Amino acid sequence: ATRAGLFQGELVAAPVRMSLIDGESTEVWAFNGSLPGPVIDVHEGDTVEIRFVNRLSQPSTLHWHGLPVPPDQDGNPHEVVAPGESRLYRFTLPVGSAGTYWYHPHPHGHTAEQAFRGLAGAFIVRAAKDPLHALPERHLFISDLRLMSDGTIPPNTADDVMDGREGQFVLVNGQREPSIVVTRTERWRIWNACNARYLDLMLEGTTLTQVGTDGGLFETPQAGLNSLLLAPAERVEIVVSPSTTATNTKLVARPYSRGKMAADAEDVRITLAGVKLAAGTAVALPTALREVPALGMAERVRTVVLSEDMGHGTGNMRFMIDGKTFDMARVDIDTTVGLVEHWDIRNDADMDHPFHLHGVQFQLVSRRQDGVTEHAPFVAWKDTVNVEPGETVRIKVAQHHVGLRMYHCHILEHEEAGMMGQLRVN
Ligand code: C2O
Ligand code: CU
Ligand code: CU
Repeated sequence: ATRAGLFQGELVAAPVRMSLIDGESTEVWAFNGSLPGPVIDVHEGDTVEIRFVNRLSQPSTLHWHGLPVPPDQDGNPHEVVAPGESRLYRFTLPVGSAGTYWYHPHPHGHTAEQAFRGLAGAFIVRAAKDPLHALPERHLFISDLRLMSDGTIPPNTADDVMDGREGQFVLVNGQREPSIVVTRTERWRIWNACNARYLDLMLEGTTLTQVGTDGGLFETPQAGLNSLLLAPAERVEIVVSPSTTATNTKLVARPYSRGKMAADAEDVRITLAGVKLAAGTAVALPTALREVPALGMAERVRTVVLSEDMGHGTGNMRFMIDGKTFDMARVDIDTTVGLVEHWDIRNDADMDHPFHLHGVQFQLVSRRQDGVTEHAPFVAWKDTVNVEPGETVRIKVAQHHVGLRMYHCHILEHEEAGMMGQLRVN
């Protein structure tokens, strides 16, 4: 049976005071007063109607990261909601869109700040027939927050613009180092909602079993992984089971070196959560999770080049795509609905940049570096992919809706410093 319904809700972006460090109060910007915002949990086929109320002192929008919504409902920077105003976003989620998404503001010039002050939330789309529906589910929405000793959230510095902002507190569902007890095999959805922090996830002393990524489940579970790198905006689904003997472990982010340039930039190991694996038996996973259809033959190849100009002491740092900084009045690329394209995303810069394209899920084809090409071992749906310096990542993609789409680095400070372009779908 199909379940086609209507989901109606309201998201109010507003400043709210919270106690995050002892004895001090912090003004965060939150959706519906909660950090992170409420989880939106719907089904394929549902029509979603969300009223967005902007009680900030800046323009804002709601962007549905990764979802195949029409461009005029996607919170593009061209269609901002002024302070004190509201608007309705409305879209229908197609069959096949089950996956792990999120929402955050996208007003040009304010995206990074609105995100680092707390405005982001999870969005889950479920399939009518979900092979893992029997497993209890846990959500780990990871963000980071920088706080001064008086509890205030400081603005970005020049170093933040260069490297992307990392906060000293890494939060899981808004909490510091929560404790997790696993008594049965569980399905975990994990979001990297940090502005710039990379998370090289590891469950100490054990391996990980990955079952999905941004745009939903894999065809088959991938067991035995030592770690999983989540660049900003990426998501994964994993399965975590009890252990033969009770075990206390930790979910950590290992140091990952992404080429940060600030003098005091360091990459340290961070504990995200304490994890107790109770004694018990693991539930066997189905070997086939779902079918992920391969996109057809690519009919066009285009190249997209990421580059940086540090401005060498002029204070004029620029982050570019195809040699240009973002211009809202300029269309950078034209394409056609349904046309299958290869995008070769080449990173000519010295830092890693996570590349994100709006409105669709794409398939990773290959990674090429130093003349060596590594093909993706299987097809999966993604909307954000990390590109290392000197690397060319090939993706395969086809757009579904006519209109304007953004593509950008998801280190939000880089996006705001110009590393964004516009795709017009005809
Ligand atoms: Cu997560 Cu253009 O955004
Ligand atoms: Cu997006
Ligand atoms: Cu970047």
